[in-house]
Amino acid sequence: MEIREVAVVGLGTMGAGIAEVFGRAGMTVVGIEADPDALARGVGILTASLSRAVSRGRLTEQEQADILRRIRPGSGFEAAAGADLAIEAVPERMELKRQVFAGLDRACRPDAILATNTSSLSVTAVAAGTAHPGRVVGMHFFNPAPVMRLVEVVTTVLTEAPAGAAIAGLARRLGKTPVQAGDRAGFVANALLLPYLNHAVSLLAAGYATREDIDTAAMAGIGLPMGPLALLDLIGLDTALSILEVLQAEFGGSRCIPAPLLRRLTEAGQLGRKSGRGLYDYGEPAPDAATLASIRNDKLPPAPRRVTLISAGGAEDAAGELAGAIAAAGISVTRNAAEASDLILICAPPTASVLPAALGTGRPDQAAGLWLTGDKLTELVTTRLTSASATAAATALAGRLGWQLVRSPDRPGFLTGALLYPHLADAVRMVQDCYAGAADVDAAMTLGCGYPRGPMRILDDIGPEVALAALRAMHEAYGDPAFAPPPLLAEHAAAGLPFSG
Ligand code: 3HC
Repeated sequence: MEIREVAVVGLGTMGAGIAEVFGRAGMTVVGIEADPDALARGVGILTASLSRAVSRGRLTEQEQADILRRIRPGSGFEAAAGADLAIEAVPERMELKRQVFAGLDRACRPDAILATNTSSLSVTAVAAGTAHPGRVVGMHFFNPAPVMRLVEVVTTVLTEAPAGAAIAGLARRLGKTPVQAGDRAGFVANALLLPYLNHAVSLLAAGYATREDIDTAAMAGIGLPMGPLALLDLIGLDTALSILEVLQAEFGGSRCIPAPLLRRLTEAGQLGRKSGRGLYDYGEPAPDAATLASIRNDKLPPAPRRVTLISAGGAEDAAGELAGAIAAAGISVTRNAAEASDLILICAPPTASVLPAALGTGRPDQAAGLWLTGDKLTELVTTRLTSASATAAATALAGRLGWQLVRSPDRPGFLTGALLYPHLADAVRMVQDCYAGAADVDAAMTLGCGYPRGPMRILDDIGPEVALAALRAMHEAYGDPAFAPPPLLAEHAAAGLPFSG
């Protein structure tokens, strides 16, 4: 069936973005909100997004006017009477979704497709309450909807095949890539993304690392377009909380239990960008990276003149490279721990602990761990005994060498690995469960969340055996089953078999 007219119910951040996507594709759109203020706000979001595209030279003023002409506001379900497709993007509450679908059931033609943009609720439960469950499909967009290229198409045991096929075809017409997903909480992308974001909030609340360091580790250490805390503010903390509650109910496990800080911020109305404040404050422009670095460097001592560099955990090659880089900056380096120096650096991988090597030097207060993650990020690992002056000296050294630095406690995975490895384990578990193939997992995360490489590709690049060792170390340290390496990972590591094609 050809879809020419679409009704979008709920014009919050997602609904307005979805209406924009349809309008841009030349379709007639009716945006429905019962509350006139919410309707005006939704039209405002849409207009601002189009104006931004015009100011960036991505859209002409004429095109903007044409798109806006195709999108008309409506205040009741009867406005959806002529729609070939009605999609709802109202808040994630089942009773609300059911009310909307009851209204659409009455108002829409019997052959119209009814879609839900739910990010985690059961599409089957929504469909079962309607008069024609065969025409109900999940059509899940990603924020910002005009930018992210993924649409998860969720069919249920009740869905008639043509309805699912029509939505997948429509997604392609919109310039998106459809990924088929079964009706399971969080589908592919959110079931992987939200536990990782939640874990980042737990690390922040536990004082494991600062907000900025957590986000820097994800961006510079993993290469993601946004850090997890900034991304939570984009998604909305209330939305993230609702999704986690559904994931927790369906899967259980520590990674899905909403971090208390996330719940408290939501209760406080600090919902992220949309409320002006969440994990970050959007009231004032954030200082840029150069300003932050200069503030940090102002308080630092001069870089040390002589550094001891030793290795631990089999990182001899990496230590040699580090020693070369430090010496090239004109700083004297000794590899002999018995010789005098201003600072001891212990090059150790995220599977190792820095403290035993620090104790072995006899000067643990002057010792800190250092690990280069990827080619952009240096992790400074401080033990329980590292002094403030050694931390300052190492930070000054990093400034002198132009390294981007984050601080991590001496715990397995350090900071980047603590965020990344459990996330990769979740992805492997999803493949192990046969819910999604490795290619679909990677497509979902690259197209839906802007990952430059999907989790399975990241895993292959790191080496399954490295991830396995890190997860074993994390599991041993914390005892949390969420960190236990999935058997499929151990099998790939033992067989030397990559996950991605
Ligand atoms: N609306 C419309 N367009 C937007 C936008 C918005 N809110 N934000 C950014 N854009 C556009 C810009 O206009 C720009 O377009 P152009 O290249 O044509 O000029 C483009 O996106 C890039 O924007 P910027 O240059 O301003 O910024 P970045 O390069 O930093 O990219 C980003 C911004 C696209 C948001 C990028 O950081 C990203 O991909 N982040 C990850 C987002 C993500 O993970 N989304 C999924 C969240 S989970 C979800 O939505 C599921 C739900 O169920 C919770």
